[in-house]
This record gives sequence, C-alpha cells and structure tokens, in this order.
Amino acid sequence: MSNGPHRIVFANEKGGTGKSTTAVHVAVALAYQGARVAAIDLDSRQRTMHRYLENRAETMRRRSIALPTATFEVFGGDDAGELDALTEKLGQEHDFLVFDTPGRDDPLARHVATRADTLVTPLNDSFVDFDLIGQVDAETFKVRRLSFYAELIWEARKKRAMATIKDARREMDWVVVRNRTGYTEARNQKRIDQALTELSKRVGFRVASGLSERVIYRELFPSGLTLLDKGQLGELGTSHLVARQELRTLVSGLNLPVPAKPAPAALESAA
Ligand SMILES: Nc1ncnc2c1ncn2[C@@H]1O[C@H](COP(=O)(O)OP(=O)(O)O)[C@@H](O)[C@H]1O
Ligand SMILES: [Mg+2]
Repeated sequence: MSNGPHRIVFANEKGGTGKSTTAVHVAVALAYQGARVAAIDLDSRQRTMHRYLENRAETMRRRSIALPTATFEVFGGDDAGELDALTEKLGQEHDFLVFDTPGRDDPLARHVATRADTLVTPLNDSFVDFDLIGQVDAETFKVRRLSFYAELIWEARKKRAMATIKDARREMDWVVVRNRTGYTEARNQKRIDQALTELSKRVGFRVASGLSERVIYRELFPSGLTLLDKGQLGELGTSHLVARQELRTLVSGLNLPVPAKPAPAALESAA
C-alpha cells in the first residue's frame, strides 16, 4: 500500500467489551484477504490477542496446516519511543498494524489511539459501556456530556488536523462497533441507538455493526481458529454461516484500504 502501513487500534477504557476478540478476527480476516498483518498486544498482562494467535500457530503445527494469520508481538515496555521504534520496524514489512490495548486508562494505549488511522471502539449494548463515550440524561436519555475519553480523541483529531502530532498521516476514522448484540431488550437497544446517533454527530465517530453474542466466539480461543477457517471447523451449522457473514460485514464496515495484491495462498484458502 502506498502510504505505509495502516494502523488499526482497538481501544476503550473498559475491559470485557470485545476489543481482543474483535481485533483477532479483523487481523485474521485481513490476512485472508492477502494482507501482511502484524498484531501488537499492548495488554501485556492479559495478552488475549497474543495468546489467541499463539494458539492459532500451535494448531497449525499440530495439524500440519498453513492458515492465513498475523505475526504477533507483545509490547510490555512503558516507553513510547520504544513502541514507536517497534511500530516503525513492523511497518516496513506489513500492510496493517493491529494494536490491541488494555481496558483502562494507559499512556501507551492513548499514544497509539491518538495515532490510529482507524480507531475501533467496541461497545456492548448497555449504558454502562456507553458511559465511556458520553453521559446521558437519566430522564430523557439525551446526551448530556462527553466522557474524558471522547474529549481525548476529539483533541487528538483536532491536533492531527493541524498536523501537530508527528507521524500521524491520515485523518483518523473513529468507528464505534456494537459487540455482543442480540441479548438486550428491544426498547433498551432503541434508546442506545438514539443516544449513539446523537453522540456520533457531536463527536464525529461512525457506528458500524459488530459481532452478535455467540458462544462460538468464546469457544474458538483455545484452537486459535476463527469462523473464516472453513475446512478446520468441521460441520458448520446455519448459525455459524450467519456468524461468518456478520464477521465479513464488520470488516467491510471498517472501510480499510485494500492491500495491493492478495497472496496466492490466501486467495486459495479464501475461495
Ligand atoms: N460476540 C461475542 N459473543 C460471545 N462472547 C464474546 C463476544 N465477544 C467477546 N466475547 C467474550 O467476552 C469476553 C470479553 O471479550 P474480550 O474480547 O476479551 O474483551 P476486551 O478485550 O475488551 O476485554 C471474553 O470472554 C470473550 O470470549
Ligand atoms: Mg482484551
């Protein structure tokens, strides 16, 4: 790709919203499209993304198969300059850099979030999660005020527009992805939809559809497989085919640049 690697950062300041799960699936989906993907886990304590991809590598060894995948690293340091050096190095050999971050306020998570080309914030359908972006009025559910995090990203984008953040080249696309949908009551869901729409206009993010609540997303972790690994999953029921489609919709909803030429191996397995 022409402008160097595209940085996708999965971030919000809360655990359990689906950052790591979504990050792994997006990374693998891009690898299936023939992109060279590096996954950098900044959550050096939980290392969910890293361990998922490690499990994937192990499954490949055990079954003597090659699957499209991402190279993976954990960054456990606390020095932004060191992280930039690693980013620079990986950027020379990859089309996409996928960063997963810990679910708390963390200086390095902020560092990469403010430099993302695509910032993905997964939210569960709940006002508890919504609170990470903005507070709503208790009576009317109208948005009352932006969260600290929304302010932070807002400021970063403003600075980027004025090009004061070095090495942030593109405009940031901030995408809020609804994760684990399907288990909230319809009325609650509608309120969240309305509040998100209102907030998206004020803060300048897009809302994209994410993954629905499915046991399979939890079960695949030990093998490191994803719903895209057709031949490896055994017989797939209809619900899994629907799930695979929702995964494709998620990836296309991120509007990522298309890698120059798909790798032949990936083309073959994606066919
Ligand atoms: N779409 C989904 N359906 C079912 N379980 C999910 C889904 N997304 C995430 N999970 C589960 O929810 C938990 C938190 O997800 P995770 O991706 O680790 O979130 P985070 O990285 O934001 O802390 C994990 O147990 C994960 O397996
Ligand atoms: Mg995580």
